[in-house]
Amino acid sequence: MRDVFKRTDMCGDLRIEDAGRDVVLNGWVAKKRNLGGLIFADLRDRTGITQIVFDDKTEKSVFDKADTLKSEYVIGVKGTVGERESKNKKIPTGDIEVRAAELVIYSTADTPPIYVKDDDNVDENLRLKYRFLDLRKPKMQRNLAFRHKVAQVTRRFFSDEGFLEIETPDLDKPTPEGARDYLIPSRVNHGRFYALPQSPQLYKQLLMASGCDRYFQIAKCFRDEDLRADRQPEFTQIDMELSFVEPDDIMEIQERYLKTLFKETIGLDIQIPFQRIPYDEAMDRFGSDKPDTRFGFELKDLTDLMKDCGFKVFSSTVDAGGVVKAICITGGADKYSRKDIDKLGEKAKDYGAKGLAWMKVTDGGITSPIAKFFDDGQKKSIIGRMEAKPGDLILFVSDTYKVVSDSLGFLRRHIADDMGLLDPKKFNFLWVTDFPMFEYSEEEGRWLAMHHPFTMPREEDVDKMLTDPGSVKAKAYDIVLNGVEAGGGSIRIHDRELQKKVFKALHISDEQAQEKFGFLLEAFRYGAPPHGGLAYGMDRLVMLMLGESSIREVIAFPKNANAQCLMSGAPGLIEQSQLDELAIRTVPDAE
Ligand code: AMO
Ligand code: AMP
Repeated sequence: MRDVFKRTDMCGDLRIEDAGRDVVLNGWVAKKRNLGGLIFADLRDRTGITQIVFDDKTEKSVFDKADTLKSEYVIGVKGTVGERESKNKKIPTGDIEVRAAELVIYSTADTPPIYVKDDDNVDENLRLKYRFLDLRKPKMQRNLAFRHKVAQVTRRFFSDEGFLEIETPDLDKPTPEGARDYLIPSRVNHGRFYALPQSPQLYKQLLMASGCDRYFQIAKCFRDEDLRADRQPEFTQIDMELSFVEPDDIMEIQERYLKTLFKETIGLDIQIPFQRIPYDEAMDRFGSDKPDTRFGFELKDLTDLMKDCGFKVFSSTVDAGGVVKAICITGGADKYSRKDIDKLGEKAKDYGAKGLAWMKVTDGGITSPIAKFFDDGQKKSIIGRMEAKPGDLILFVSDTYKVVSDSLGFLRRHIADDMGLLDPKKFNFLWVTDFPMFEYSEEEGRWLAMHHPFTMPREEDVDKMLTDPGSVKAKAYDIVLNGVEAGGGSIRIHDRELQKKVFKALHISDEQAQEKFGFLLEAFRYGAPPHGGLAYGMDRLVMLMLGESSIREVIAFPKNANAQCLMSGAPGLIEQSQLDELAIRTVPDAE
């Protein structure tokens, strides 16, 4: 005698062809209605919903038990599939119902604090607090199942391509580069700390030195950084490394992988190879190193035209070595009022812009508060350069190259979003290549590695690393999808001396290099193959494929913006005895 009904079918699978079959279902009560002598219960599991009917043919004790059912009770039902009288076209099982003969209640349930339905519009904090309920929602179940599928296709693809799935340590060594580490105190080595890995970077390079040839891993990574919609403190990478390769080899495999992935998960044929855009061109044209190419509005340089113009804001910026650039919003003249443009200007200020000048193109010429500063010839040149037509809106920013890029790059995408041009069903992949090797940090007053310090500089730039770090380009590439950095990688240094030179350019002393990365330098001493790789942000990739706007929608148990788990309460307090064991003293009022 079993306590649990042995299931014959899932709730989402029954169809009209099943009519007449005796079935056994288990699941949660999504809804119950009692219409007098007739009780309907919607039974839900992760695959969908089946309507269960209790009527005058149902044994009285079963009928009475059915009458006690409430939302989220967990039950088992034995019954017979029948054709429904009033069909529900909205669900795949809408043609049938199950006429119940037996019923078991496994669990009762209190009234849930959130509705288990997709469009409940409830505050996200409440969803995160009751994530176990939230995950019962059909969309969340679909997202988890989809993510599983992505992992399966990924494992099979890379395995078929000769990659070995190898696990690397989670108790790692703290590193000074990159984001802040999550630290774990060592009980048996007082005063010493492990760091959770920000990525398996060094280990995968060591695996290449170990002769593993091709490695991949679906790896958890941890970064203590400020959180946003597409960032979590712990996230998952689809990580890989290959020996004896050039950038083209790595990119070619990724393109085939993504083509396979999209075909096998969403049935979409994506076109390969992807467009490649050098970093400098991406910044020039899109004001971003992760351009969204689903729409136009490209940045155009007007610096030469503004050099001697009457508008002092522009001409003096040009004199001071700055630039003037603009974007042309097709059909934007009617859509955006003066007030709206002021609001756009306010937003642009977050990116450093001091103002936002504009012109509306009309049949006769232009309307603009700065029209008076330009003669007809100049206006014509501007309109020509912007390829603007009557009805278009031109937005200008003049400042340093960086401020102009950041602010117009932001506005370009913000306005496209506002105008409904960001079609989530369109997948525009591209490679951004030839990244700068270094970027200057005002905060730290030194050059930092733009990707990471193990990235190979271009041969022709190696000699400039100490004299002109800003001009050095790296053999690094990002894969960008719809304006999101989905992944990134590079060819690595496999030569001890070159690696030391890069550390030097980064002002990492020999002693520091030895202390932090000695094991890597040591490995290079005994024969390391040329190698390179890449890692995708799996959460981001899945988010984009599903058309979600936050990675929290595709992570089972995400953290909130304060890096807390509202459900479990992590991070938690610990006992004094635990601290003592670790020889750690905390500042008393460190609340
Ligand atoms: P990188 O730091 O660019 O490269 O990370 C690779 C990809 O991981 C994703 N990602 C994140 N996703 C969610 N939350 C975060 N906090 C987060 N941070 C990064 C991004 C990013 O493109 N070891 C190198 C890869 C390599 O060179 O092979 C690395 O970690 O999608
Ligand atoms: P002002 O002469 O400062 O009143 O500015 C006239 C117009 O130019 C306003 O619409 C400002 O927003 C705009 N403006 C001011 N500074 C800049 C700048 N650096 N780049 C682009 N537009 C600007």
